[in-house]
Amino acid sequence: MSPTPADVAVVLDHVHKAYGGEQPVVALDDVSAAFTRGTMTAVMGPSGSGKSTLLHCAAGLDRPDSGTVRIGATDLSSMSESRLTELRRGRVGFVFQAFNLVGALNVEQNILLPSRLSGHRPDPAWVAEVIGRVGLGDRLRHRPAQLSGGQQQRVAIARALVTRPEVIFCDEPTGALDTRTAAEVLALLRSAVDRTGQTVVMVTHDPVAASYADRVLVLADGRIVRDMPQPGAERIAEHLALLGRRQPVASREG
Ligand SMILES: Nc1ncnc2c1ncn2[C@@H]1O[C@H](COP(=O)(O)OP(=O)(O)OP(=O)(O)O)[C@@H](O)[C@H]1O
Ligand SMILES: [Mg+2]
Repeated sequence: MSPTPADVAVVLDHVHKAYGGEQPVVALDDVSAAFTRGTMTAVMGPSGSGKSTLLHCAAGLDRPDSGTVRIGATDLSSMSESRLTELRRGRVGFVFQAFNLVGALNVEQNILLPSRLSGHRPDPAWVAEVIGRVGLGDRLRHRPAQLSGGQQQRVAIARALVTRPEVIFCDEPTGALDTRTAAEVLALLRSAVDRTGQTVVMVTHDPVAASYADRVLVLADGRIVRDMPQPGAERIAEHLALLGRRQPVASREG
């Protein structure tokens, strides 16, 4: 059954995005996709296939050249920059590979920063639960530089969870982590979906990370070329290998 509008957290409808310059690059070529509430989707594909661009357009960080993006019932196309900023602070969370923590603030201050910026005082019980879930209760007064990569990534996830955003967008959240820490981070994202009904859209290169998702979208050359429900790590790896062979640039065979 196709999802009803109320079930849909994010919709991209015929989104086109090109970057200018001497040789214009089409980053997204007529992409349409709907992300169902309370699900986790992995977005995969070769380097340069448009994954980050898709995430940025879906999250209102970047504007498509044509087509529309909706978060819930809100159409982002016609929104002013200031309303977009408000939407991003209130309804959307981000986790980037490079953590994007504020070095001068401690763990607790980093986690509470989005709430401070949006002027909403978060429920202290919820803040305590989020901090407990990411397992950083004993590191709240530490600065990011005093933490390991995995701990920093967990701070970034707590920061994304604390405002209870409808949608959490992650760009290679486990790219810099070892296998065990990556598994912890993925379990946290999974719990945001399973326990709090949030929606996660995660870019990843790792078939094992993608196997945590309910669905895998594969991009190539700015288009969605596969849409697979729970394919499992092996099938994902096979599909990526096939894409790699079609694209000599991304292949390692030289
Ligand atoms: N700001 C920009 N200016 C010009 N070209 C850009 C810009 N951002 C992205 N591109 C181009 O758009 C295409 C898609 O880029 P995008 O960052 O979405 O790819 P990606 O799938 O996230 O790749 P990766 O896996 O390497 O992160 C690429 O060809 C890239 O060079
Ligand atoms: Mg990218």
